[in-house]
Amino acid sequence: MTQQARFITLEGIDGAGKSSHINSIKHWITQRGVDLVTTREPGGTPFGEYLRSLVLHEKMDVMSETLIMFAARNEHIKQVIEPALKAGKWVLSDRFTDASFAYQGGGRQIPWDVLNTLTQWVEARVPDLTLLFDLDPAIARQRVSQVSPQPDRFEQEQAHFFNRVREAYLQRARDYPERIVVVNSAIELSQLNACVMAILNERLW
Ligand code: TYD
Repeated sequence: MTQQARFITLEGIDGAGKSSHINSIKHWITQRGVDLVTTREPGGTPFGEYLRSLVLHEKMDVMSETLIMFAARNEHIKQVIEPALKAGKWVLSDRFTDASFAYQGGGRQIPWDVLNTLTQWVEARVPDLTLLFDLDPAIARQRVSQVSPQPDRFEQEQAHFFNRVREAYLQRARDYPERIVVVNSAIELSQLNACVMAILNERLW
C-alpha cells in the first residue's frame, strides 16, 4: 500500500527520553518500505549544525537565540524537509517549531505572537504527527545529569525554566489535540515504547 509522505516530530523537555525511541520509530517506518529522512533541530544542515553549536554554547540575548533557531529552521525547511516530502520521503525530526514555542516562548518568555510571525516567515510546515514526551522536570534533570557530563546552555537552566517549558508544551498539546500526542515518559521504558508503537499504528498507517 502506498502512503503519502509524512512529517513526524519528536518533542519534550531535556531528559524526557525522546532519543530512546528514535531507533524503533525509524525501524517502524522503514519496515513499511518507505524512504525516511531522519533529522534534528537546531541543525539538519551544515549551516544549521554550525548555528546549533553557537546557540547551545555561546551566551546571547534571548531574541538572538530565537532568531538563530528560526534561521537554522529556515535552511532546514528549504534544503531538507520540503525537498524530501516533495520526493515522497517521510521525515522524522528530533524537535521542530513546537520547541521554539516551549523553550523560547515558555522558557524565555518571548511572546507567542512573535513566534507565530517567525513561523509564518520561514513557511514552516505543520507536522502530521508530533509525539510529546512528557516528564516531571525534576526526574528529567536527574536523567540529564547521568548522561550529559558537560551540560549545554539549556541543560544548565533551573527548575522553574523547565517547568515553564513543560507547561508551554502541554499548552501546545491542548491547542492542537489532533496533531500532538502526549506520552507519559514516567512509565517503564518497554511499556513506553509499546505505547509509542501503538500511536504510530493508529495515527500513521
Ligand atoms: P536536544 O535536541 O535535546 O539535543 P541533545 O539530546 O543532544 O541534548 O538539544 C537541543 C536543545 O535546543 C534543547 O535543549 C532544546 C533547544 N531548542 C530550543 O530552545 N528551541 C528550538 O526551537 C529548538 C529546536 C531546540
